[in-house]
Amino acid sequence: MTTPAPRWKAPAPFNAPVSLRANVASFMALDVMVRARRREQEGHDIVHLEIGEPASPPPRAVREAAIAALDGRPIGYTEALGRPSLRVRIARHYRDAYGVEVAPERVAVTTGSSGGFVLAFLALFDAGARVAVAAPGYPAYRNILEALGIETVTIEAPEDTRFVVTAAMVEAAHAEKKLDGLLLMSPANPTGAMMSGDALRDICATCERLGIAFISDEVYHGLTYGEPAQTALQYSSQAVVANSFSKYFCMTGWRIGWLVLPDHLVRPVERLHQSLAISAPYLSQLGAEAVFEAQAELDAALARYASNRAILLNELPGMGLDRFHPADGAFYLYVDISRFSGDSLDFCGKMLNEIGVAATPGLDFDRTRGHHAVRFSFAGSERDVVEASRRMKSWLR
Ligand SMILES: Cc1ncc(COP(=O)(O)O)c(C=O)c1O
Repeated sequence: MTTPAPRWKAPAPFNAPVSLRANVASFMALDVMVRARRREQEGHDIVHLEIGEPASPPPRAVREAAIAALDGRPIGYTEALGRPSLRVRIARHYRDAYGVEVAPERVAVTTGSSGGFVLAFLALFDAGARVAVAAPGYPAYRNILEALGIETVTIEAPEDTRFVVTAAMVEAAHAEKKLDGLLLMSPANPTGAMMSGDALRDICATCERLGIAFISDEVYHGLTYGEPAQTALQYSSQAVVANSFSKYFCMTGWRIGWLVLPDHLVRPVERLHQSLAISAPYLSQLGAEAVFEAQAELDAALARYASNRAILLNELPGMGLDRFHPADGAFYLYVDISRFSGDSLDFCGKMLNEIGVAATPGLDFDRTRGHHAVRFSFAGSERDVVEASRRMKSWLR
């Protein structure tokens, strides 16, 4: 007689754990986008001012480069630091745009600047390090740093410096308790404010003097409405620069960006990228190399943002929304709504539900003062900006 094989028995109920490090805040702009798209699927006419995403398609040269590669050849991994020809092309961009010489060996091609931040933070900081960021500021910085066990120190930039962090503020924060790093962007999200060359030089010099690693987020370079932006590479060989093909180059979904690193950080970043992503996507790297030759289309996109910006600068004050900095760059206006509400979450929720205008609560960018502000993105179509203004005008009456 054979004994039947023991039957598999389900183990006692078990829920896989959730780590504490996963407990980061949500990125509200993306949550609003999901809600707005859901309402659209339900048949509502929604105008999108919530996301910093160019409405333009990627330039033709990008599409052609990707299509040409779809001829049956493998779409493979590349070197972890990126295709050598793309690294050379990015280095040349620094000479063309800023007159700065950058060795191609210092360039690392990443999966958007978002992927670049993870690499830079891991290469620069150990768990427990203290890194300062500005409020209002880009929310993902804090979330990535916290997930990596790095303490974020918030420098609350005052409205009277256009919410720009100065070298004196960095020095004061460092004097209170030692900082290991500083992460700033210019032009900034959500305010569009840009640092002058002198201010950026002072930040670089202060960081070098105090031994603070400086990461300069330059993803909105190219998108300026007056003076061009300056790169931290003009003032420091030790700054880490993060940049992206998402914004000026209209390639958000291609998930490609780059870092420029001090020499001694190149190999650590290469080793990290080998294991974290292997490489940035091959097709996106081909597209990125081609996009530098698409000046006319990129200029046309910039002209559209400039015209959208002009429409909002003209329309918002008449609605009682007259407290904001007019944005030197990027494609956002960060607008004080305190005349209408002290709860930006509720304000944006109602605005979406009642008039179909999607915008991002200031709370996403500033956890203490963002109750009184809303960020409007003017990266989208002119139709959306005009229609949003029309709807808001009667809603806010
Ligand atoms: C200031 C800033 N940095 C970085 C990013 C990330 O962009 P990406 O990962 O597409 O390069 C964004 C996106 O909105 C941003 O606003």
